[in-house]
Amino acid sequence: MSTFTPATLEQAVARFRDRHDTGTLVAALVAGSGITLTAPGWEKAAEVPYPEIFPFGIRALAGHTPTVTVWRRGGQGILAFNGRFHLYQGYSAFEVAAIPRLAGLLGAPAYLATNAAGSIDPTIRPGDLVAISDHINLQATNALLGDWGRWRPPIFPDMTHTYDPELRTLASDHARRAGFAVHTGVYCGLLGPSYETPAEIRMLRTLGGTVVGMSTVQEVIAARHLDMRVLVLSLVTNLAAGIADHPLTHEEVMVAGAAARDKLAALLAALLEDLACPKA
Ligand code: HPA
Repeated sequence: MSTFTPATLEQAVARFRDRHDTGTLVAALVAGSGITLTAPGWEKAAEVPYPEIFPFGIRALAGHTPTVTVWRRGGQGILAFNGRFHLYQGYSAFEVAAIPRLAGLLGAPAYLATNAAGSIDPTIRPGDLVAISDHINLQATNALLGDWGRWRPPIFPDMTHTYDPELRTLASDHARRAGFAVHTGVYCGLLGPSYETPAEIRMLRTLGGTVVGMSTVQEVIAARHLDMRVLVLSLVTNLAAGIADHPLTHEEVMVAGAAARDKLAALLAALLEDLACPKA
């Protein structure tokens, strides 16, 4: 039995609020795959290691302790989570969902997540960005199981309008002005950590998938349960298995991630301005 419960999450939220003045949050940002988010024009008010926040064991990657940065400007704030929890690392769906739940309970109205993904569509290439319009949860779990569904209504949240169309449009507009395109597509969330087989990729294509990855869907379910607006940007790091003619490696994914990091960072910075200073 996990000791991470709705009650221990709420205690973690209260502790965070006592220690850190976030101001009025405009968004929470969550980055995957070695992307560290900065917020140009905002001041770093705190950098808090995950073990000080989350009431469960943190499995740090390669000696690197993930942190959340509290960015402040005037009365406003942003939470930038530098690193996420994955099911394939052995975290439960509830631990994976702890980031959006903490952010949502602290008052963040929007959840902006980035991830690395493989492309199932041969016209979408490594280095491209995809604004996710829908997902297929193939992780055989759900962040709302058991106590977490009973914790607060609705028990059966609607998933028809999961990904905010206005945030997607803003992302495409900013990208167009900066000279690159953002595709739109469906994210297939798998458990990992093995990459898919070519037969699995053919199946995902038949199911209507555009990109495939091992994260984000549990976070999105939890964020929508708390009624946050959701934007997910997938950075295509590779063609999925069988579409590429060579075996996939983690190095390939990391190198492509690093190459496209700047355009993703610029896009997120522009989106934060939209959220901080909404046009009437
Ligand atoms: N499959 C699953 N997850 C991934 C991939 C992939 O091809 N690329 C980056 N994350």
